[in-house]
Amino acid sequence: MSLAGRSLVSINDVSNGEVEGILSLADKMQDSKGSKLDLCQGKILASLFFEPSTRTRLSFEAAMQRLGGSVIGAVDTKTTSLSKGESIADMARVVGKYADIIVIRHPWEGAARVAAEYAGVPVINAGDGSHEHPTQTLCDIYTIKKARGKIKGLTIALCGDLKHGRTTHSLAYMLARFGATIVFYSGPSLGPPEYVLRKLTTEYNGVLRRPTGRNLSSLALALGGSGKASATLDAIYVTPRTSHDLALIPDLRAEVDLKGVDALYMTRLQQERFSDAKGDTRKAYPVVDKDVLKRKELKRALVLHPLPRLDEIAREIDADPRSMYFEQAAHGVAVRMALIALLLGVQQAEAPAERTLPEVVTQPEIYRSDLGSRCENPACVSVHEARYIAPEFVVCGNKPLTLRCVYCDYEKQPNYVGNLKSRIYYACQDIRARQIKVSNSVFFDSEEKAQERGFRPSAKAQQR
Ligand code: CP
Repeated sequence: MSLAGRSLVSINDVSNGEVEGILSLADKMQDSKGSKLDLCQGKILASLFFEPSTRTRLSFEAAMQRLGGSVIGAVDTKTTSLSKGESIADMARVVGKYADIIVIRHPWEGAARVAAEYAGVPVINAGDGSHEHPTQTLCDIYTIKKARGKIKGLTIALCGDLKHGRTTHSLAYMLARFGATIVFYSGPSLGPPEYVLRKLTTEYNGVLRRPTGRNLSSLALALGGSGKASATLDAIYVTPRTSHDLALIPDLRAEVDLKGVDALYMTRLQQERFSDAKGDTRKAYPVVDKDVLKRKELKRALVLHPLPRLDEIAREIDADPRSMYFEQAAHGVAVRMALIALLLGVQQAEAPAERTLPEVVTQPEIYRSDLGSRCENPACVSVHEARYIAPEFVVCGNKPLTLRCVYCDYEKQPNYVGNLKSRIYYACQDIRARQIKVSNSVFFDSEEKAQERGFRPSAKAQQR
């Protein structure tokens, strides 16, 4: 199985079989740790970190050096020509001529996708804003598989800042694809983005149950630590194979509280992504401590965390055998060695004997046009680099019509759709709007915008 020349921007860029191939090669890299290999001799990795990092950057750089290659890099936009207004596309084109592979971390969501479109060499997303962090997910599932031998059938709780925590987004997709049950426990107003939950149900065909009203399972309450804070049970995702079971569960709280979880994946409050002047969110943020770990729901649970941590994991549990977070970080070198070697084509991965799908089951239609609606996420790369990026969306829902940005996954619901052939526009709920092919459509947020672009209202609209 070859991954030569490919990029890893989203965890969904690799199939389940390919992930298993990466993890199996990581095992071999782990065995060779300590000795320097010459697999990447003469190859250069460009390490572009425009946000702070300890683990991801240093483990990528250590990985390349252990493979016998060398590293060039930048750790701040201020030290590059991005600060003079150079586009990510131009930077990627140039760096792609200096290096054989690029690793990029950037605060704009979708920045790695743009770099991959222009670099001409493999690009690895080392974290793009609040969006995704696919190589952290590889380390996460490598750790869980090593400890539990499988992912399928496990129940994994994701906890903390699920809104801004990019690691939890990539991990949720991967867990769903490998057949785990996912329980979402968030801190105050920090539930997972709608687009993450929607993807789980529309693309992996699982069943998502959302509790009605404020739902505090006993585990969610216990995660309060001091007692002042608590977590909220936002949703439970169950894979297609067991959805029948879910339908039979009358009370989600009872289900989790009774059976417990196999792993608790804690995340820190991403303070850099939003302002909370009074620090109220921090005060009410869930905590895992010795008392929490005594609960029956966590008896067998691994405690994971992508790190860095603030106070959400008490230091008193560092020595508990269930605490896996430092091991998880240590796995970063072997996993990233495997990934670099595969994308550079200097190694092939073994294909798994049996595929553990569900893979992505739907292929949604893509809409691309610089005439109409743009992404509304202020952190999206298509907003910051509008000079050359035409908005591109996946049509991910029909009732109401919903578009998902291909760069950042942010969703929006346009109000009007124009027909490129007739230059007439309709309200999106108009039956005639649904008859226009996506390839002939232009979506607008308002009638004014449609008319500015030379579209005329439909006859019915004109009579109003
Ligand atoms: N887990 C992780 O991304 O850590 P760093 O921010 O230190 O790279």
